[in-house]
Amino acid sequence: MKALVTGAAGFIGSHLTAGLLDRGAEVVGLDCFTDYYPRPLKEANLGQSRSRPGFRFVEQRIQDADLRSLLDGVTHVFHLAAQAGVRKSWGRDFRIYTENNVEATQQLLEASVGLPLHRFVYASSSSVYGDNVSIPMRETALPQPVSPYGVTKLAGEQLCYLYHVNHRVPTSALRYFTVYGPRQRPDMAFNRFIRAALDGRPITLYGDGEQTRDFTFVADAVTATIAAGDRGVPGRAYNIGGGARVSMNQVLEIIGRVTGRLDVRREAAQKGDMRDTYADTTLARADLGFAPSVSLPEGIEAEYRWLSSTQVHG
Ligand SMILES: NC(=O)c1ccc[n+]([C@@H]2O[C@H](COP(=O)([O-])OP(=O)(O)OC[C@H]3O[C@@H](n4cnc5c(N)ncnc54)[C@H](O)[C@@H]3O)[C@@H](O)[C@H]2O)c1
Repeated sequence: MKALVTGAAGFIGSHLTAGLLDRGAEVVGLDCFTDYYPRPLKEANLGQSRSRPGFRFVEQRIQDADLRSLLDGVTHVFHLAAQAGVRKSWGRDFRIYTENNVEATQQLLEASVGLPLHRFVYASSSSVYGDNVSIPMRETALPQPVSPYGVTKLAGEQLCYLYHVNHRVPTSALRYFTVYGPRQRPDMAFNRFIRAALDGRPITLYGDGEQTRDFTFVADAVTATIAAGDRGVPGRAYNIGGGARVSMNQVLEIIGRVTGRLDVRREAAQKGDMRDTYADTTLARADLGFAPSVSLPEGIEAEYRWLSSTQVHG
């Protein structure tokens, strides 16, 4: 197996890279270190993988890379590179999202046409659903994103579908539901909460705290992603969720227990945040053998240990 991992220096991409190397795969990691969060964090994410045999790192934007030569001999593409984050996707910054999430995806798909790929796995998001679908969310629901970010992730997913239908690129999309754990992005809630607790600062919670999320531990997301690379059905999108529907107030209770302190300030809900997310993972279970294995308290504990020990913070 020879894999191209885009976004290899990111949160999920760096765990995926290590997971693939553990399986003996040859990995080309591509990342351009966007400034969405500080470069030293991404360098730390790459960490030991950089010097592992079988790994080659290329620092470049997808849009500028010689994709045909990067794809030479590649059997699996894992396309995780994106401009992440719902809250920053409004206004003038939308362009950053269309460039990195839509145009870059189209260019990578175009470069994949006619290649003997086993699978092309695209990192999609629960943000494609919006607030108009019933809970638990099923892949058959009509996606109606409520954030500009969600629109770009859905566009990327649709591009994957149409390159499968028209050009037989074997694409599968994974709709990740809020991924957390060691190396989580510094803008994400658990990371912000745990760091605030460690520093003795108050936590800012947006909304009344009764909004619910389905949280996915990063190792479970990686297992699902590798399984999709083995046997995802081309043309399909899969929900990847941790399997529990938890309110932010319950999360704060767990974080308070783990960190031993918590001072919460509440602010109004943010535009584009979905009210609830909860994945029906029947399809991923059937096609990919997906079965999340890490409970929320265990996963939060792991993220807490990482943040307590790491030298570089957001
Ligand atoms: N973290 C989550 O909870 C979550 C949930 C749903 C979906 N996703 C999706 O999973 C993927 C990974 O998310 P993450 O949380 O690891 O984000 P991340 O920001 O940590 O990683 C993304 C990486 O992609 C790189 N990148 C961005 N645009 C690029 C380009 N044009 N060329 C090359 N590199 C580029 C960035 O430098 C970054 O290192 C993304 O596609 C994201 O939309 C994440």
